[in-house]
Amino acid sequence: MYAIQRLELEHENILAFTNYAQDLAISIMEGAEINRDQLKKMVAFIRTYCDGHHHKKEEDYLFKRMVEDLGDLAVKLVRQGMMVEHDLARKCVIDLDGALDAYDQDPSPKNRLEVISYLMAYVHLLRDHAQKENKVVYPFAVKHLSKEAMDWVDQETKAVEDREESKKIYRDFREFIKEIPQESQD
Ligand SMILES: [Fe+2]
Ligand SMILES: [Fe+2]
Repeated sequence: MYAIQRLELEHENILAFTNYAQDLAISIMEGAEINRDQLKKMVAFIRTYCDGHHHKKEEDYLFKRMVEDLGDLAVKLVRQGMMVEHDLARKCVIDLDGALDAYDQDPSPKNRLEVISYLMAYVHLLRDHAQKENKVVYPFAVKHLSKEAMDWVDQETKAVEDREESKKIYRDFREFIKEIPQESQD
């Protein structure tokens, strides 16, 4: 259960991030300046923590064993559900990053709307995705994976945590928030 507990804890951080992103989208909608540094840091946080750390562990260990061990229903749930959504999230971040660059070149209302839209698209996608994993996918894995499979997932997850602990990646939301420029927290 170590791996599942880690993943659930990371969902809490990711959901806190989505709340932060939504608040920012509202302030931009109400006329606040688009702070490129702040939003580029958010893009980096998504890529490093939400995708590179969290989604990767799901794909490499938990989902891998679900697909290998649990048959058609798990294959459908993982490949046609969760993995597709991971790819959609990656596409959404590419689009958000592109919208920031476009706004930098031309700060038009259209490009401002694009930034807000992609930010909110990511918020909606990740909220829905984390909820499905918490309520359906993880409980399904806990119920059906063997003890041997779960032990393997735990062991591999622990190895990643130990390895990345020293890499100073954004380990949780509080660390991320500390690095956001002060003026953009107003
Ligand atoms: Fe996921
Ligand atoms: Fe997840």
